Amino acid sequence: MSVRLGLIEAPPSLDLLGPLGPEIAPLFTRPFLTLHRASGLYTARICLLLLFDLGWETRLRSGVTLDGLCEGLPDQARKPLAWMLPFLTAEGMLTQQGDSYLLTGQPDLDLAGLREAVEIEAPGHAANFDLLDGVRSHILPFFTEGKDGDALLFDLALFPLWLAYFRNGNLGYFPNNLLTLLALREGLPTGARVLELGGGAGSFAQLVAELGAEQGWLGRIAEYRFTDVAPTFLRRAQRNLGTTAPGLPLAFQSLDLNRPLAAQGIAPASLDAIVGINVLHVAQDLEATLRDLHGYLKPEGRLVIGECLKPSLDTPLYLEFFFNFIKAFTSVKLDPRWRPRHGFLTPEAWDQALLHAGFTQILHVPPPHPLMNRHPNFTVGAMVAIP
Ligand SMILES: C[S@@+](CC[C@H](N)C(=O)[O-])C[C@H]1O[C@@H](n2cnc3c(N)ncnc32)[C@H](O)[C@@H]1O
Repeated sequence: MSVRLGLIEAPPSLDLLGPLGPEIAPLFTRPFLTLHRASGLYTARICLLLLFDLGWETRLRSGVTLDGLCEGLPDQARKPLAWMLPFLTAEGMLTQQGDSYLLTGQPDLDLAGLREAVEIEAPGHAANFDLLDGVRSHILPFFTEGKDGDALLFDLALFPLWLAYFRNGNLGYFPNNLLTLLALREGLPTGARVLELGGGAGSFAQLVAELGAEQGWLGRIAEYRFTDVAPTFLRRAQRNLGTTAPGLPLAFQSLDLNRPLAAQGIAPASLDAIVGINVLHVAQDLEATLRDLHGYLKPEGRLVIGECLKPSLDTPLYLEFFFNFIKAFTSVKLDPRWRPRHGFLTPEAWDQALLHAGFTQILHVPPPHPLMNRHPNFTVGAMVAIP
């Protein structure tokens, strides 16, 4: 067994985490840092194995360009491959020479060893790796037959693994929810009307119920409107959240953030907070969506966004592996000012987009700089945008 996780990054010091640092610092446990590192390595190995599954090892060993690899493939193959080749290079599994990518030697492709290392340090996360294995085994027809990525990724076999991923017990996902919760909690008035966009598996609503009760602020919420565009998620939330998010005054509705909310029954200037965790990056036209959302907030309301964040637009994040097969992630309207290409954005790009959409002030939890300069692997954050 070869277990080489390499150096596990030291946690950031408290002074880098801003005013809510004492509540953020406990995220950076050794199990979390190990899982984070192992997930990046596992994703890189899965990517290379996927290229081998496609029969391209020999081509990679003689050096191949992105154009060369895409020849004869459905057009949709280009975006994931345009991400995978630089990602594999950044992870040291390929080398780049001009436009060519080259595989040399015998890269470490041991998956079982990584799983074992994580099971020791951060037990209970096998589903994260099962999901990556599942994507590898399901996605081949995306490249070979031009099949739809969404249908392949969210089929019945993989759906339970997504549910296992989007839960607060997953140390790899929990920071998204905790940082967004801290951002929401600050400034939540009594009698607050809150709307969650893309609530999905419901893990954020559960955390609001749990920590809101524990910390004594749950009673400030008068209505928590859980929404999602996907009927499967919405139905599941309607069935379960009453029990799994006790005390949260829930309302449910189907809502598509790509359509004006007014056309979906939301009244202008009626909300104290709109929250979206890992969903706003799929807005087809980010500017239009942010402008629209602005209109449903009361003057003192807040848009609270939890997102994966990039230190620079050129840095591939391992989580983008999944998303590059999803049309809503890749087929978005680009804008040179904040979205020059699809994918996760930098904190600066979010600031630009939010200010341009009419918000006057943006607060970050935690402040992204100098944190991300010193810890480029810190790739999640929450933002509060004030009208
Ligand atoms: C990455 S998941 C977010 C996970 C969720 N916060 C949780 O903890 O389970 C993205 C969610 O956004 C939803 N979504 C995707 N496109 C959407 C759209 N156009 N409008 C609203 N929700 C959307 C998906 O159905 C999914 O539930």
